[in-house]
Amino acid sequence: KRVGVLISGTGTNLQSLIDATLDPSRGTGAEIVLVISNRPKVLGLTRAQKANIPTKVIPHTAYKSRLEFDMAMHSELMAAGIEIVCLAGFMRILTGDFVRLWRGRLINIHPALLPLFKGTHAHRQALEAGVRITGCTAHFVEEDIDSGAILVQESVQIELGDTEETLEERVKQAEHKVFPKALKLVATGKVYLNETGKLVWRQ
Ligand code: GRF
Repeated sequence: KRVGVLISGTGTNLQSLIDATLDPSRGTGAEIVLVISNRPKVLGLTRAQKANIPTKVIPHTAYKSRLEFDMAMHSELMAAGIEIVCLAGFMRILTGDFVRLWRGRLINIHPALLPLFKGTHAHRQALEAGVRITGCTAHFVEEDIDSGAILVQESVQIELGDTEETLEERVKQAEHKVFPKALKLVATGKVYLNETGKLVWRQ
């Protein structure tokens, strides 16, 4: 399947997807053919270029509305024949129109065990709540932020003395395993989203 990845930053998750999809032994059934960033000059773009993946910068600041920005991305994705879109640290809220166009083909990674700690500052929320376990979630994207059917999760222990930074670092290790697994599930057709928004697993 032809995959497009949307990023805004350092792109360590993008790197995990690149590594997985370039390794034939992992059988992801996916090939990343386009990386779009809403910010210029971020490290994620360099990672894509190093892997010879075409990149596009679409600055959200150049558009009058969220919808126009989203539709500019949609056009690029369509032009590249993209079948699955991965949000890998993409820090813009997508419009309902965009989400509907890509429903069942749009995957996000969130640094907490959803449905807990939605939104930004997931690690801060986890530390403030005093939970001893957190983790990460790969899920299909629905209009409501950080909702949508869950594809893969992995738990991470919170250690004494953890800060937002140390926790983020440890959760990212888990994200880098979880996201490629989720992409493989979708790209190989092992799982899909039905009309009611529930996952269907193929035996
Ligand atoms: C990750 O923690 C991801 O869960 C969140 O944004 C971060 C992106 O990190 N949505 P990176 O750019 O992949 O390193």
